[in-house]
Amino acid sequence: MNMNELNEPTASGSTRKIGPVILDLNNISLSFGGVKALTDISFNVRQHEIRAIIGPNGAGKSSMLNVINGVYRPQQGEIVLRGEHRKNMDCYSAAKAGIARTFQNIALFKGMTVLDNIMTGRNLKMKSNFLMQALYWGPARREEMAHREKAEEIIDFLEIQAIRKTPVGRLPYGLQKRVELGRALAAEPDILLLDEPMAGMNVEEKQDMCRFILDVNDQFGTTIVLIEHDMGVVMDISDRVVVLDYGKKIGDGTPDEVRSNQNVINAYLGVAH
Ligand SMILES: Nc1ncnc2c1ncn2[C@@H]1O[C@H](COP(=O)(O)OP(=O)(O)OP(=O)(O)O)[C@@H](O)[C@H]1O
Ligand SMILES: [Mg+2]
Repeated sequence: MNMNELNEPTASGSTRKIGPVILDLNNISLSFGGVKALTDISFNVRQHEIRAIIGPNGAGKSSMLNVINGVYRPQQGEIVLRGEHRKNMDCYSAAKAGIARTFQNIALFKGMTVLDNIMTGRNLKMKSNFLMQALYWGPARREEMAHREKAEEIIDFLEIQAIRKTPVGRLPYGLQKRVELGRALAAEPDILLLDEPMAGMNVEEKQDMCRFILDVNDQFGTTIVLIEHDMGVVMDISDRVVVLDYGKKIGDGTPDEVRSNQNVINAYLGVAH
């Protein structure tokens, strides 16, 4: 099937259009001393798709996201973002290029409120400098208000109005994960990298998170790269799935293709998740 022409009606009635490839990973290899975290991995991500990365513990999934947003620099391979070839990314360029991310272990300021944590996601969008902000000088003040408005929009979208002034450290785990999604959304990313957004959640929290991910993809047109261990979720919401095992790619395709791939069944799906 030509994915450029793939139109899928969604629950909200809109039509999802999967676009051309915007991110291409070519022959990526990454090692830490003697440990080969990734070996010759190639796959691509199309605009507006939900692309899952799955595989057993230690397969290299988080390392892959870290390569995409410039936390790790691969020894080999290249990253092609919107047609621009690079040997590696750095975090600042990735953020500037519209890539945002959440982490496997929640990375929020626990003592700060939900609203303030979400505001930190807007740092890159702020034009006025520190001195202007400190003096609360006219333009800086207007800018601050616009950023607050955006943060409040995200809070409404994620249905967390009731906890907007609560310090994040006091929230249950599931809500902290939602706030972290909010912080990433505050950057208004084109590509959102989510590292196990549903890990440790109960069924209801997972359902909520699934709905938010689908809504972000649908309403904002955000491309999503998602690591997840819950196969029900992965098979339900992904357009395509890449499977890693011991740092190597062992499968790549639609959920149905991956589900019936014997290598994938042997390495991962054969066991309960
Ligand atoms: N900073 C690091 N220094 C040394 N080794 C690392 C580092 N990051 C990852 N690794 C190693 O690389 C391999 C892949 O790890 P990675 O965290 O990418 O796996 P994963 O698929 O995300 O696993 P999990 O499902 O447990 O999160 C592992 O052997 C891990 O120990
Ligand atoms: Mg991981």
